[in-house]
Amino acid sequence: MHIGIIGAGHVGSTLARSFVTAGHDVAVANSRAPETLHDLETTLGRHAHAMTAQEAAAYGDMVVLAVPFGHYRELPAAELAGKTIIDAENYLPERDGHIAALDDDWTTSSELVQEFLPGARVVKAFNAMRWDHLRDYGHEAGSLERYGIPISGDDAAAKREVCDIIEQMGYEPVNAGSLAQGGRKHQPGSDVYAADLTADDLRARIGVVPG
Ligand SMILES: NC(=O)c1ccc[n+]([C@@H]2O[C@H](COP(=O)([O-])OP(=O)(O)OC[C@H]3O[C@@H](n4cnc5c(N)ncnc54)[C@H](OP(=O)(O)O)[C@@H]3O)[C@@H](O)[C@H]2O)c1
Repeated sequence: MHIGIIGAGHVGSTLARSFVTAGHDVAVANSRAPETLHDLETTLGRHAHAMTAQEAAAYGDMVVLAVPFGHYRELPAAELAGKTIIDAENYLPERDGHIAALDDDWTTSSELVQEFLPGARVVKAFNAMRWDHLRDYGHEAGSLERYGIPISGDDAAAKREVCDIIEQMGYEPVNAGSLAQGGRKHQPGSDVYAADLTADDLRARIGVVPG
C-alpha cells in the first residue's frame, strides 16, 4: 500500500519505519522542503520518498497526520478528500494554544480534523502511546502479551483498514467507538492515554463497544 505521512518528527518517522518494515511504500512530508528529509529518506531505503505535504497526501491510499495539532488547518484538504486518514495528533494546549471548544469538552480534536476534512474518513489511532514505546513494543501475532492500540472513528471500513495496519505493526487494535465517544476515551487526560496497556487491559478499561 502507499501511505502518506504528514509530519516527519518523532511519530511520523517512527510510523514510516514500521510501515516500510511491514512492506509498504511511504511518502514523508514536513513543513519545509522535501530536501530537508534526505537523511530520513536514505535511512528508510528505497520504499520511502520525501515529498511536499500536498504530494504525500495525493500519494497515499491512506494518510497519517502526525503534526502538532495546532497546525491541522494547514493540512492539504483537497488532496486528502476521499482518503482514509489516521489522526495521530493530540491537543496539547500548552503547545497548540487554547481552543475553547476542546477546553470545555464540547468536541474532540479528531472531530475538528474531520470537520476540516469533510471528504476524508478520519480514524484516531497511534495517539495514545509515546513514540519510542510505539517503536519498541510491537510483538508478533501469537505473542502472549500484545499491547493494545485504541482506535476510534465514524467509518467502519476505514477503521478496518487501520486495524490491519496496527496488526502488521505488532499491536492489537481495540475499538473505542466513534470519534466523539471513543476519541474522548483515548485522548490526553483519559486513563488509557500513555498507559502502555496490554490489549486485554485496554479492552477492560475502554469497555465493550459495538461496531
Ligand atoms: N511525541 C510522542 O510521543 C507522541 C505520541 C503520540 C502522538 N503524538 C502527537 O503526534 C503529533 C506529532 O508529534 P511529534 O512528537 O512527532 O512532533 P514533532 O517531533 O515535533 O514533529 C512534528 C512534525 O510535523 C511537521 N509539521 C508541522 N507543521 C506542519 C505542516 N503544516 N505541514 C506538514 N508538516 C508539518 C514538522 O515539520 P518541520 O520539522 O518542518 O517543522 C515535523 O516534521 C502531535 O500532534 C503529538 O501530540 C506525539
